[in-house]
Amino acid sequence: MDWEIISYENEKFNELMQQYEAAIKIIKTKLELIDQELNFKYGHSPIHGIQYRIKSIESIKGKLKRKKLDQTVAAIKKLYDIAGIRVICNYLNDIQYIAQLLVNQDDITQIKHSNYIQYPKNNGYRSFHLIVSVPVYQKDGKINVPVEIQIRTIAMDCWASLEHELCYKNESKTNNDIKIRLKECADKMAQTDLEMQKIYLEINRPWDGNR
Ligand code: GTP
Ligand code: MG
Repeated sequence: MDWEIISYENEKFNELMQQYEAAIKIIKTKLELIDQELNFKYGHSPIHGIQYRIKSIESIKGKLKRKKLDQTVAAIKKLYDIAGIRVICNYLNDIQYIAQLLVNQDDITQIKHSNYIQYPKNNGYRSFHLIVSVPVYQKDGKINVPVEIQIRTIAMDCWASLEHELCYKNESKTNNDIKIRLKECADKMAQTDLEMQKIYLEINRPWDGNR
């Protein structure tokens, strides 16, 4: 296995990718069920949308190179973001709640978390990142598969998508002035998130909102 080369012709590579795909399906279903239950019990559906992706073969090779790891199928298992899910929430408070409900499930093991909401990145990026491991049952037994989950509000997602588009495509043009303005946009959006959350609470739970 150690020497297996990364390519779509390699059976071990395809088998590993199939396991990541299975893990994504399981986590996605778990999140949809959390949303469904909360909607049923409280009439509030916290999840606005879910996106997911398997890292492309080119990105996998690039990341292994950056991390100075071998270009082998075995080395891929040292990366935790091959399977990625993005959960876009309506309100700020939904983020921690969903993360907690997911991690509380018996078969989910939390490997790592990064709270870029409490501690935003210098450029203004905000999101809650979780790396979990979930069991996937194959014909020969159980394997634990890592999945990266990014949980953010609609506003955080809007900023991250545009920032990625603007900076990724025009790296040479993103001077300091642009960076400052993008950071200001992120901060305004964070302010809006706080205000929208407040409005939500005032309308839905007046005893909280008026405190
Ligand atoms: P990667 O090597 O990119 O996976 O970074 P990492 O392992 O240090 O993890 P980190 O938590 O910093 O970021 C993981 C992912 O979060 C990225 O692949 C992006 O999807 C997202 N992300 C992190 N920082 C930014 C940012 O500044 N802008 C945008 N648009 N997305 C970001
Ligand atoms: Mg990544």
